[in-house]
Amino acid sequence: MEFNRSIIITGGAGFIGSHVVRLFVNKYPEYRIINVDKLTYAGNLANLKDIEDKPNYTFVKADICDFDAMSALIRDERVSGIIHLAAESHVDRSIKDPFTFARTNVMGTLSLLQAARLYWESLPERYEGKLFYHISTDEVYGALQMTHPDGIEPPFTTTASSGTHHLAYGDSFFLESTPYSPHSPYSAAKASSDHFVRAFHDTYGLPAIVTNCSNNYGPYQFPEKLIPLFINNIRHRKPLPVYGRGENVRDWLFVEDHARAIDVIFHNGKPSETYNIGGFNEWKNIDIVKVLIETVDRALGRAEGEDMDLITYVTDRAGHDLRYAIDSSKLQKELGWEPSLQFEEGIEKTVRWYLDHQEWLDEVTSGEYQKYYENMYSGR
Ligand code: NAD
Ligand code: DAU
Repeated sequence: MEFNRSIIITGGAGFIGSHVVRLFVNKYPEYRIINVDKLTYAGNLANLKDIEDKPNYTFVKADICDFDAMSALIRDERVSGIIHLAAESHVDRSIKDPFTFARTNVMGTLSLLQAARLYWESLPERYEGKLFYHISTDEVYGALQMTHPDGIEPPFTTTASSGTHHLAYGDSFFLESTPYSPHSPYSAAKASSDHFVRAFHDTYGLPAIVTNCSNNYGPYQFPEKLIPLFINNIRHRKPLPVYGRGENVRDWLFVEDHARAIDVIFHNGKPSETYNIGGFNEWKNIDIVKVLIETVDRALGRAEGEDMDLITYVTDRAGHDLRYAIDSSKLQKELGWEPSLQFEEGIEKTVRWYLDHQEWLDEVTSGEYQKYYENMYSGR
């Protein structure tokens, strides 16, 4: 079959990557979509079962740090676009093992950048029609305070420059121009990779876009992250380890809305630009935990709130950022993207999905899926 372009999506077997792969494979049958993933503990091909037989989809098990493998793949497949999601993504793991985060997030990104640059520069048309799209996080901006100049108690209603009214826990927001100030080894490694992407644009002219997104939630998220971990624990009546007093604020976006934003930006974003992605949806952790308990209890026919006593306050995460809040006005105004789901609806959908997919949860927590796929794919 003839395809009009080949696109690599790295980390396509992970949480967000699998939603991006699914969207692109289904929406663009004219593109050849190559999912490059090392299948670490976080990568799971079962996330892509529904599209794995599509003619425009290919999986390549490879490490993005392997420069020779990346160079060969990009050249052999005549790749014109790279959407780069592969990373170590969990803050708590980065505190225990920072080296792995520097290796994958920094050296892996550098290896892909160099491989893409050398191939694209070797072509007669060079960078024309090419794009390196790097998926990053709001965590690179550091932490925001929970203050209002008039001493108003949060949360309060505020209006973004896009006209969106929303509840906020402070009067400052992450803008594309906010200086970087990462605090965890994870965010330091992501920040470093963002700088490399921009350096490749400024030094070599590589067409590159960086986007910084807020916390995602939804199906297929590895159950070490707050929302899937807690849904599973509530179901099994296990303690819910809330760090500190649960006062930290995160800004939550449904994962399919992030995937839609990536699609819009990949096709219409301006190379060299940065776009913040977020849903103007700030929540204190403890409030999310209560919503999760009520939603799971209701779904399981338990008395609503019956499981509140599972909440267990534990030692705080080291360097725990107080508040994240993304201002995504630029993306909304320039490219017309906006989130499609209200949080309450997204949480209902998410809880339902995890309750209906206990097998998936059991498999990923036991590590069985990795043994299975290791036998199926042993390198390129
Ligand atoms: P994830 O941990 O669920 O998935 C990461 C994927 O990358 C896995 O499939 C893993 O196997 C793969 N991978 C890891 N190391 C690799 C390597 N060396 N070579 C090839 N593949 C490798 O992560 P996620 O939550 O889906 O996040 C995806 C991207 O989005 C990351 O870059 C992350 O920083 C960014 N991000 C995540 C969020 C969020 O809330 N989850 C928010 C903003 C940005
Ligand atoms: O902001 C975007 C980032 O969101 C992404 O870049 C990261 O890849 C992603 O992991 C996520 O980082 P967080 O650290 O915000 O997500 P996590 O789900 O680990 O934690 C959410 C909040 O809940 C955070 O304030 C810590 C708290 N928490 C988390 C866990 C796992 C708890 O209180 N208890 C827990 O057991």
